[in-house]
Amino acid sequence: MTAIRYVGVVGAGQMGRGITEVCARAGLHVTLCDVTEDRARAGLAGVADSLLKAEKRGAITADERAHALAGISVTDDLSRLSGADLVIEAAVEDERAKTALFRQLAEVVTDPAAVLASNTSSIPIARLAAAAGRPDTVVGLHFFNPVPVMPLVEIIPSLHTSKTTELRVRAFAGEILGKKTIVAQDRAGFVVNSLLIPYLLAAVRMVGSGTATAEDIDTGMTAGCAHPMGPLTLADLIGLDTVAAIGEALYEEFREPLYAPPPLLRRMVESGLLGRKSGEGFFRYR
Ligand code: CAA
Repeated sequence: MTAIRYVGVVGAGQMGRGITEVCARAGLHVTLCDVTEDRARAGLAGVADSLLKAEKRGAITADERAHALAGISVTDDLSRLSGADLVIEAAVEDERAKTALFRQLAEVVTDPAAVLASNTSSIPIARLAAAAGRPDTVVGLHFFNPVPVMPLVEIIPSLHTSKTTELRVRAFAGEILGKKTIVAQDRAGFVVNSLLIPYLLAAVRMVGSGTATAEDIDTGMTAGCAHPMGPLTLADLIGLDTVAAIGEALYEEFREPLYAPPPLLRRMVESGLLGRKSGEGFFRYR
């Protein structure tokens, strides 16, 4: 089983940045790709900032920070990922965009055994595998936000993923990145979001119906159940557009009302209130 040394990350948003950081900290060479050079560079600046914070709190040394940074390059040209052993797609949670990317990735990545992974939270891996046309090497590799802190990676083989591909990504996430891994079936939401999203949507419905204020709902779960964050702070952290998109995908798959994004969530997304990344969601961040 060939070791993974060179990783391509597609998408320089919060998940792509976190994945780039943990790969670089593990000593891998990483190329971070986004649709424009500016976005890719902004992603790298975010990773540099996070590495500096990690050094300041003593989690890594100055040398480790410099070494991690030196291992990262950025590009807006997907063909620069041609030599990758593993590409992790962390682009917007949109099926069309992701299938188009997998079609392109299968063309540009030259090693036929290279793994094409998606960080999707809810889109069936089988659809991305069909777009790539070499389904044995396509797999779900789902990280959690903030990636440098959360120990879990979900691994989602589709019905066509080879055992070799599954074992390679398990070794990558478990041994190289030092994450805990769980394996989930290829169904929308996998394990964690199938449980988490209905809970977050229930909290949004409580705000909508006036059961309690956003602050009190969150205090209920932090002080009453010892959760590290309340559901509305967590929804803001994930991004309300992402929470809504995952809810849509779950609803589309199972047709259960508990997965349907409530009107308040849709209106907030339409109004640009996306949570922490836009500066305001259920709470303000500016
Ligand atoms: N990047 C890197 N490190 C970070 C960070 C970030 N964005 N945010 C916090 N940290 C680090 C801090 O530096 C600190 O490190 P040390 O212990 O080494 O000093 C540590 O994490 C704890 O941070 P804080 O003391 O500042 O804050 P906290 O104790 O309130 O913890 C938290 C912050 C880790 C985010 C915590 O609130 C938490 O675990 N929240 C729940 C997060 C969660 O549930 N994530 C999953 C979301 S679901 C998902 O991602 C999947 C999906 O598909 C939607």
